Amino acid sequence: MERTFLAIKPDGVQRGLVGTIIQRFEQKGYTLVGLKLMRVSRELAEQHYSEHKDKPFFAGLVNFITSGPVVAMVWEGRGVIANARKLIGATNPLNAEPGTLRGDFAVDVGRNVIHGSDSPENAEREINLWFQTQELVPWEPAFTSWVY
Ligand code: TYD
Ligand code: MG
Repeated sequence: MERTFLAIKPDGVQRGLVGTIIQRFEQKGYTLVGLKLMRVSRELAEQHYSEHKDKPFFAGLVNFITSGPVVAMVWEGRGVIANARKLIGATNPLNAEPGTLRGDFAVDVGRNVIHGSDSPENAEREINLWFQTQELVPWEPAFTSWVY
């Protein structure tokens, strides 16, 4: 079954959006297989966002993601990588459709509440970067018989 990496950024945690965000993915029918509240080191932030290391916003992005607690998650389910991106919405919240997390809860590209992996390759890379195998907990198959 497909898995993706999602992280509620420091703005989402500080604004009390953790429950609301988790609920959206639960209600869709995805299963939570990894979850931790953590402070992100500079090293982890720079590795996570390494594809952006030459962008003008990189330093500010690393400062922001290390500035407060983050909720790191792994979610599982059919089409979860692309569909989580749809539920999250466009990178710039001003372009994100209403009904998406960024469309409903953010106005600034530098404070866009949540990260989601953008491809199967990055999902695998990010899951391995943020979680150890033993931190991921598979569900009983019975749950998904009511979703699929
Ligand atoms: P990106 O990977 O392009 O977006 P997404 O999070 O939707 O995959 O960029 C990573 C983060 O960098 C983005 O969530 C917010 C920040 N960012 C800026 O601060 N300014 C920008 O112009 C862009 C493109 C991104
Ligand atoms: Mg990205």
